[in-house]
Amino acid sequence: MWGTMISLRHINKLYHTGKSTLVALDDINLTIRKNEIFGILGKSGAGKSTLLRIVNLLERPTSGEVIVDNISLTTLSSRALRMHRQKIGMIFQHFNLLESRSLFDNVALPLEIQSCSKDVIDKKVSTLLELVGLADKHHHFPSELSGGQKQRVGIARALASHPAVLLCDEATSALDTESTQSILNLLKKINRELGLTILLITHELEVVKQVCDRVGVLHHGRLIEEDATVNIFARPKQLATQQLVQQALHFYSPNATDEGLTLKLTFIGDESEIPLISILVKQFDVTMNIRQALIEKIQDTTVGFTICQLTGAPLAIQQALQFIQSTAIQVEVLHGAI
Ligand SMILES: Nc1ncnc2c1ncn2[C@@H]1O[C@H](COP(=O)(O)OP(=O)(O)OP(=O)(O)O)[C@@H](O)[C@H]1O
Ligand SMILES: [Mg+2]
Repeated sequence: MWGTMISLRHINKLYHTGKSTLVALDDINLTIRKNEIFGILGKSGAGKSTLLRIVNLLERPTSGEVIVDNISLTTLSSRALRMHRQKIGMIFQHFNLLESRSLFDNVALPLEIQSCSKDVIDKKVSTLLELVGLADKHHHFPSELSGGQKQRVGIARALASHPAVLLCDEATSALDTESTQSILNLLKKINRELGLTILLITHELEVVKQVCDRVGVLHHGRLIEEDATVNIFARPKQLATQQLVQQALHFYSPNATDEGLTLKLTFIGDESEIPLISILVKQFDVTMNIRQALIEKIQDTTVGFTICQLTGAPLAIQQALQFIQSTAIQVEVLHGAI
Protein backbone atom coordinates (compact mmCIF):
# COMPACT_ATOMS: atom_id res chain seq x y z
CA MET A 1 0.00 0.00 0.00
CA TRP A 2 1.28 3.45 -0.92
CA GLY A 3 0.46 6.17 1.59
CA THR A 4 0.92 9.86 0.95
CA MET A 5 4.20 11.52 1.92
CA ILE A 6 3.90 15.01 0.47
CA SER A 7 0.77 16.85 -0.40
CA LEU A 8 0.76 20.30 -1.96
CA ARG A 9 -2.62 22.00 -2.05
CA HIS A 10 -3.41 25.05 -4.12
CA ILE A 11 0.12 26.40 -3.90
CA ASN A 12 0.60 29.86 -5.34
CA LYS A 13 3.80 31.85 -5.29
CA LEU A 14 4.03 35.44 -6.45
CA TYR A 15 7.20 37.50 -6.59
CA HIS A 16 6.86 41.26 -6.53
CA THR A 17 9.72 43.07 -8.16
CA GLY A 18 9.32 46.82 -8.44
CA LYS A 19 5.94 47.43 -10.02
CA SER A 20 5.55 44.04 -11.64
CA THR A 21 4.33 40.76 -10.21
CA LEU A 22 5.58 37.42 -11.39
CA VAL A 23 3.48 34.30 -10.91
CA ALA A 24 6.19 31.73 -10.19
CA LEU A 25 3.74 28.99 -9.20
CA ASP A 26 0.10 28.89 -10.20
CA ASP A 27 -2.28 26.69 -8.18
CA ILE A 28 -0.08 23.62 -7.83
CA ASN A 29 -1.80 20.49 -6.53
CA LEU A 30 0.43 17.48 -6.16
CA THR A 31 0.56 14.28 -4.14
CA ILE A 32 3.81 12.37 -3.71
CA ARG A 33 3.44 8.82 -2.43
CA LYS A 34 5.52 7.24 0.28
CA ASN A 35 8.63 5.56 -1.03
CA GLU A 36 8.37 6.75 -4.62
CA ILE A 37 10.88 8.70 -6.67
CA PHE A 38 8.98 11.57 -8.19
CA GLY A 39 10.55 13.85 -10.77
CA ILE A 40 9.57 17.39 -11.62
CA LEU A 41 10.59 18.25 -15.11
CA GLY A 42 10.62 21.68 -16.65
CA LYS A 43 12.60 24.22 -18.57
CA SER A 44 14.70 26.92 -16.96
CA GLY A 45 12.49 29.40 -15.14
CA ALA A 46 9.50 27.04 -14.98
CA GLY A 47 9.44 27.30 -11.17
CA LYS A 48 11.09 24.00 -10.22
CA SER A 49 13.47 25.30 -7.55
CA THR A 50 10.75 27.51 -6.13
CA LEU A 51 8.46 24.51 -5.81
CA LEU A 52 11.12 22.38 -4.17
CA ARG A 53 11.98 25.09 -1.66
CA ILE A 54 8.32 25.39 -0.78
CA VAL A 55 8.18 21.73 0.24
CA ASN A 56 10.46 22.39 3.20
CA LEU A 57 9.31 26.00 3.52
CA LEU A 58 12.72 27.49 2.82
CA GLU A 59 10.36 29.60 0.74
CA ARG A 60 6.84 30.42 1.96
CA PRO A 61 4.03 30.04 -0.56
CA THR A 62 1.91 33.14 -1.11
CA SER A 63 -1.05 30.86 -0.46
CA GLY A 64 -1.75 27.15 -0.17
CA GLU A 65 -0.92 24.30 2.13
CA VAL A 66 2.13 22.02 2.40
CA ILE A 67 1.63 18.70 4.18
CA VAL A 68 4.59 16.40 4.79
CA ASP A 69 4.16 13.06 6.53
CA ASN A 70 0.68 14.06 7.74
CA ILE A 71 1.84 17.34 9.26
CA SER A 72 0.63 20.61 7.80
CA LEU A 73 3.91 22.53 7.76
CA THR A 74 2.33 25.82 6.72
CA THR A 75 0.49 26.04 10.05
CA LEU A 76 3.44 25.28 12.35
CA SER A 77 5.27 27.72 14.60
CA SER A 78 8.87 28.33 13.56
CA ARG A 79 10.12 26.17 16.40
CA ALA A 80 7.91 23.21 15.45
CA LEU A 81 8.83 23.75 11.82
CA ARG A 82 12.55 23.44 12.64
CA MET A 83 11.83 20.08 14.27
CA HIS A 84 9.79 18.76 11.38
CA ARG A 85 12.27 19.99 8.79
CA GLN A 86 14.65 17.33 10.06
CA LYS A 87 12.46 14.84 8.25
CA ILE A 88 13.32 16.55 4.98
CA GLY A 89 16.85 16.30 3.63
CA MET A 90 18.05 18.30 0.66
CA ILE A 91 20.88 18.11 -1.86
CA PHE A 92 21.94 20.77 -4.32
CA GLN A 93 23.43 21.19 -7.77
CA HIS A 94 26.60 22.77 -6.37
CA PHE A 95 26.78 20.49 -3.32
CA ASN A 96 26.98 23.34 -0.73
CA LEU A 97 29.74 21.68 1.33
CA LEU A 98 31.81 23.62 3.84
CA GLU A 99 35.29 23.80 2.31
CA SER A 100 37.03 24.28 5.65
CA ARG A 101 35.61 21.08 7.12
CA SER A 102 36.67 17.51 6.38
CA LEU A 103 34.17 15.08 4.87
CA PHE A 104 33.58 13.62 8.27
CA ASP A 105 32.89 17.03 9.78
CA ASN A 106 30.61 18.03 6.91
CA VAL A 107 28.42 14.97 7.46
CA ALA A 108 28.63 15.43 11.25
CA LEU A 109 27.32 19.00 11.11
CA PRO A 110 23.58 18.27 11.26
CA LEU A 111 24.22 15.87 14.15
CA GLU A 112 26.26 18.49 16.02
CA ILE A 113 23.39 20.92 15.59
CA GLN A 114 21.11 18.31 17.16
CA SER A 115 23.62 18.02 20.05
CA CYS A 116 24.28 14.30 19.52
CA SER A 117 27.08 12.78 21.60
CA LYS A 118 30.52 12.24 20.07
CA ASP A 119 30.05 8.45 20.11
CA VAL A 120 26.74 8.65 18.28
CA ILE A 121 28.22 11.06 15.74
CA ASP A 122 31.28 8.83 15.15
CA LYS A 123 29.19 5.77 14.55
CA LYS A 124 26.58 7.43 12.41
CA VAL A 125 28.97 9.38 10.19
CA SER A 126 31.05 6.25 9.57
CA THR A 127 27.95 4.29 8.58
CA LEU A 128 26.81 7.07 6.25
CA LEU A 129 30.19 7.49 4.57
CA GLU A 130 30.25 3.75 4.08
CA LEU A 131 26.76 3.82 2.56
CA VAL A 132 27.77 6.43 -0.01
CA GLY A 133 31.04 4.67 -0.84
CA LEU A 134 33.48 7.10 0.79
CA ALA A 135 34.55 5.06 3.82
CA ASP A 136 38.23 5.64 3.08
CA LYS A 137 37.97 9.41 2.77
CA HIS A 138 36.93 10.60 6.26
CA HIS A 139 39.72 13.11 6.61
CA HIS A 140 39.76 14.47 3.10
CA PHE A 141 38.54 17.97 2.36
CA PRO A 142 35.95 18.87 -0.30
CA SER A 143 38.61 20.46 -2.53
CA GLU A 144 40.26 17.04 -2.82
CA LEU A 145 37.16 15.40 -4.28
CA SER A 146 35.56 15.05 -7.70
CA GLY A 147 32.08 16.46 -8.30
CA GLY A 148 30.51 13.02 -8.01
CA GLN A 149 32.28 12.40 -4.70
CA LYS A 150 31.19 15.81 -3.39
CA GLN A 151 27.60 14.95 -4.19
CA ARG A 152 28.01 11.68 -2.28
CA VAL A 153 29.03 13.75 0.74
CA GLY A 154 26.00 15.95 0.15
CA ILE A 155 23.80 12.86 0.21
CA ALA A 156 25.44 11.49 3.37
CA ARG A 157 24.95 14.85 5.09
CA ALA A 158 21.31 14.99 4.01
CA LEU A 159 20.73 11.50 5.42
CA ALA A 160 22.33 12.27 8.79
CA SER A 161 19.11 13.45 10.42
CA HIS A 162 17.16 10.35 9.29
CA PRO A 163 14.91 12.12 6.85
CA ALA A 164 11.80 10.51 5.39
CA VAL A 165 12.06 12.71 2.31
CA LEU A 166 15.00 13.74 0.18
CA LEU A 167 14.67 16.80 -2.04
CA CYS A 168 17.14 17.01 -4.91
CA ASP A 169 17.62 20.27 -6.80
CA GLU A 170 19.36 19.44 -10.09
CA ALA A 171 21.65 17.14 -8.13
CA THR A 172 23.44 15.80 -11.17
CA SER A 173 23.43 18.84 -13.44
CA ALA A 174 27.03 19.75 -12.61
CA LEU A 175 28.31 16.21 -13.18
CA ASP A 176 29.59 14.31 -16.19
CA THR A 177 27.71 11.31 -17.57
CA GLU A 178 29.54 8.72 -15.53
CA SER A 179 29.22 10.51 -12.18
CA THR A 180 25.59 11.27 -12.98
CA GLN A 181 25.01 7.56 -13.44
CA SER A 182 26.66 6.68 -10.16
CA ILE A 183 24.73 9.33 -8.21
CA LEU A 184 21.45 8.17 -9.76
CA ASN A 185 22.28 4.61 -8.77
CA LEU A 186 23.00 5.78 -5.24
CA LEU A 187 19.65 7.60 -5.10
CA LYS A 188 17.87 4.43 -6.23
CA LYS A 189 19.74 2.44 -3.61
CA ILE A 190 18.78 4.72 -0.72
CA ASN A 191 15.22 4.86 -2.00
CA ARG A 192 15.03 1.06 -1.85
CA GLU A 193 17.15 0.32 1.19
CA LEU A 194 16.11 3.18 3.45
CA GLY A 195 12.57 3.52 2.11
CA LEU A 196 13.20 7.18 1.43
CA THR A 197 10.74 9.20 -0.63
CA ILE A 198 12.64 11.24 -3.20
CA LEU A 199 11.43 14.38 -4.93
CA LEU A 200 13.84 15.52 -7.57
CA ILE A 201 13.73 18.37 -10.00
CA THR A 202 15.60 18.42 -13.25
CA HIS A 203 15.53 19.81 -16.74
CA GLU A 204 17.00 16.55 -18.06
CA LEU A 205 14.67 13.83 -19.30
CA GLU A 206 17.53 11.39 -19.11
CA VAL A 207 17.59 11.71 -15.30
CA VAL A 208 13.85 11.19 -15.09
CA LYS A 209 14.08 8.16 -17.36
CA GLN A 210 16.70 6.50 -15.20
CA VAL A 211 15.16 6.85 -11.76
CA CYS A 212 11.67 8.26 -11.52
CA ASP A 213 8.51 6.26 -10.90
CA ARG A 214 6.32 9.20 -11.79
CA VAL A 215 6.86 12.62 -13.30
CA GLY A 216 5.18 16.00 -13.16
CA VAL A 217 5.80 18.61 -15.83
CA LEU A 218 6.04 22.22 -14.75
CA HIS A 219 5.53 24.86 -17.43
CA HIS A 220 5.40 28.59 -16.69
CA GLY A 221 4.56 27.87 -13.06
CA ARG A 222 1.78 25.41 -13.82
CA LEU A 223 1.75 21.67 -13.40
CA ILE A 224 0.53 20.74 -16.85
CA GLU A 225 0.91 16.97 -16.79
CA GLU A 226 1.54 14.18 -14.30
CA ASP A 227 1.98 10.52 -15.11
CA ALA A 228 4.05 7.35 -14.82
CA THR A 229 7.47 7.92 -16.37
CA VAL A 230 6.85 5.55 -19.27
CA ASN A 231 3.70 7.47 -20.24
CA ILE A 232 5.51 10.79 -20.18
CA PHE A 233 7.83 9.39 -22.84
CA ALA A 234 5.41 7.26 -24.81
CA ARG A 235 2.13 9.17 -24.52
CA PRO A 236 2.88 12.78 -23.64
CA LYS A 237 -0.42 14.68 -23.66
CA GLN A 238 0.65 18.32 -23.57
CA LEU A 239 2.53 20.09 -26.33
CA ALA A 240 5.24 21.31 -23.94
CA THR A 241 5.83 17.73 -22.76
CA GLN A 242 5.94 16.48 -26.34
CA GLN A 243 8.57 19.11 -27.09
CA LEU A 244 10.69 18.10 -24.10
CA VAL A 245 10.61 14.47 -25.24
CA GLN A 246 11.31 15.46 -28.84
CA GLN A 247 14.37 17.45 -27.77
CA ALA A 248 15.68 14.77 -25.45
CA LEU A 249 15.34 11.89 -27.88
CA HIS A 250 16.35 13.93 -30.93
CA PHE A 251 13.50 12.74 -33.12
CA TYR A 252 13.85 13.19 -36.86
CA SER A 253 11.93 16.21 -38.04
CA PRO A 254 10.44 15.88 -41.51
CA ASN A 255 11.43 18.09 -44.41
CA ALA A 256 8.81 19.94 -46.40
CA THR A 257 9.87 17.96 -49.45
CA ASP A 258 9.39 14.51 -47.86
CA GLU A 259 6.98 12.49 -49.95
CA GLY A 260 3.97 10.50 -48.79
CA LEU A 261 3.31 10.42 -45.07
CA THR A 262 5.91 10.73 -42.36
CA LEU A 263 4.72 8.73 -39.36
CA LYS A 264 5.90 8.35 -35.82
CA LEU A 265 5.10 4.91 -34.47
CA THR A 266 5.37 4.22 -30.76
CA PHE A 267 5.56 0.62 -29.61
CA ILE A 268 5.07 0.03 -25.91
CA GLY A 269 6.13 -3.19 -24.20
CA ASP A 270 5.10 -6.36 -26.03
CA GLU A 271 3.73 -4.49 -29.00
CA SER A 272 7.28 -4.17 -30.20
CA GLU A 273 7.03 -7.82 -31.17
CA ILE A 274 4.44 -7.21 -33.88
CA PRO A 275 6.29 -7.27 -37.23
CA LEU A 276 4.34 -4.28 -38.42
CA ILE A 277 6.54 -3.14 -41.20
CA SER A 278 6.73 -6.45 -43.01
CA ILE A 279 2.94 -6.85 -42.72
CA LEU A 280 2.38 -3.43 -44.23
CA VAL A 281 4.68 -3.96 -47.14
CA LYS A 282 3.20 -7.38 -47.89
CA GLN A 283 -0.48 -6.54 -47.52
CA PHE A 284 -0.60 -3.04 -48.98
CA ASP A 285 1.15 -1.75 -52.01
CA VAL A 286 3.30 0.73 -50.08
CA THR A 287 6.94 1.42 -49.44
CA MET A 288 8.19 2.03 -45.94
CA ASN A 289 11.37 4.01 -45.44
CA ILE A 290 12.71 4.04 -41.92
CA ARG A 291 14.10 7.43 -41.01
CA GLN A 292 14.90 6.67 -37.41
CA ALA A 293 14.43 3.85 -34.93
CA LEU A 294 15.04 4.14 -31.21
CA ILE A 295 14.53 1.74 -28.36
CA GLU A 296 14.33 3.10 -24.84
CA LYS A 297 14.13 1.12 -21.66
CA ILE A 298 11.99 3.08 -19.21
CA GLN A 299 11.56 1.57 -15.76
CA ASP A 300 10.67 -2.01 -16.71
CA THR A 301 9.07 -1.20 -20.02
CA THR A 302 10.64 -1.15 -23.44
CA VAL A 303 9.41 1.63 -25.67
CA GLY A 304 10.29 1.71 -29.35
CA PHE A 305 9.96 4.76 -31.55
CA THR A 306 10.10 4.45 -35.31
CA ILE A 307 9.85 7.38 -37.64
CA CYS A 308 9.14 6.26 -41.15
CA GLN A 309 7.99 7.49 -44.48
CA LEU A 310 5.12 5.74 -46.16
CA THR A 311 4.88 6.17 -49.92
CA GLY A 312 2.64 4.71 -52.60
CA ALA A 313 -0.73 5.42 -54.21
CA PRO A 314 -3.02 7.55 -51.98
CA LEU A 315 -5.52 4.73 -51.48
CA ALA A 316 -2.82 2.25 -50.49
CA ILE A 317 -1.33 4.77 -48.03
CA GLN A 318 -4.76 5.40 -46.55
CA GLN A 319 -5.43 1.68 -46.09
CA ALA A 320 -2.01 1.10 -44.57
CA LEU A 321 -2.56 3.95 -42.13
CA GLN A 322 -5.98 2.59 -41.17
CA PHE A 323 -4.41 -0.79 -40.56
CA ILE A 324 -1.80 0.70 -38.21
CA GLN A 325 -4.54 2.61 -36.40
CA SER A 326 -6.40 -0.66 -35.82
CA THR A 327 -3.43 -2.08 -33.88
CA ALA A 328 -2.33 -1.13 -30.38
CA ILE A 329 0.63 0.71 -31.84
CA GLN A 330 0.38 4.46 -31.51
CA VAL A 331 0.69 6.37 -34.70
CA GLU A 332 1.11 10.06 -35.27
CA VAL A 333 1.27 11.74 -38.67
CA LEU A 334 4.23 14.12 -38.53
CA HIS A 335 4.06 15.31 -42.09
CA GLY A 336 2.03 14.96 -45.29
CA ALA A 337 -1.62 14.46 -46.11
CA ILE A 338 -3.50 11.86 -48.08
N1 LIG B 1 13.56 35.51 -5.09
C1 LIG B 1 13.00 35.77 -6.28
N2 LIG B 1 12.56 37.01 -6.60
C2 LIG B 1 11.97 37.25 -7.79
N3 LIG B 1 11.78 36.33 -8.74
C3 LIG B 1 12.20 35.09 -8.48
C4 LIG B 1 12.83 34.72 -7.26
N4 LIG B 1 13.13 33.40 -7.28
C5 LIG B 1 12.73 32.96 -8.49
N5 LIG B 1 12.16 33.94 -9.21
C6 LIG B 1 11.56 33.82 -10.56
O1 LIG B 1 10.62 32.76 -10.52
C7 LIG B 1 10.66 31.99 -11.71
C8 LIG B 1 10.93 30.54 -11.36
O2 LIG B 1 12.25 30.40 -10.85
P1 LIG B 1 12.90 29.02 -10.43
O3 LIG B 1 14.25 29.31 -9.88
O4 LIG B 1 11.94 28.31 -9.55
O5 LIG B 1 13.00 28.28 -11.82
P2 LIG B 1 13.67 26.87 -12.17
O6 LIG B 1 12.61 26.08 -12.89
O7 LIG B 1 14.29 26.29 -10.98
O8 LIG B 1 14.78 27.30 -13.23
P3 LIG B 1 16.28 26.70 -13.46
O9 LIG B 1 16.08 25.42 -14.25
O10 LIG B 1 16.92 27.76 -14.31
O11 LIG B 1 16.92 26.50 -12.13
C9 LIG B 1 11.73 32.62 -12.58
O12 LIG B 1 11.10 33.49 -13.49
C10 LIG B 1 12.57 33.41 -11.60
O13 LIG B 1 13.17 34.51 -12.21
MG1 LIG C 1 16.27 25.83 -10.42
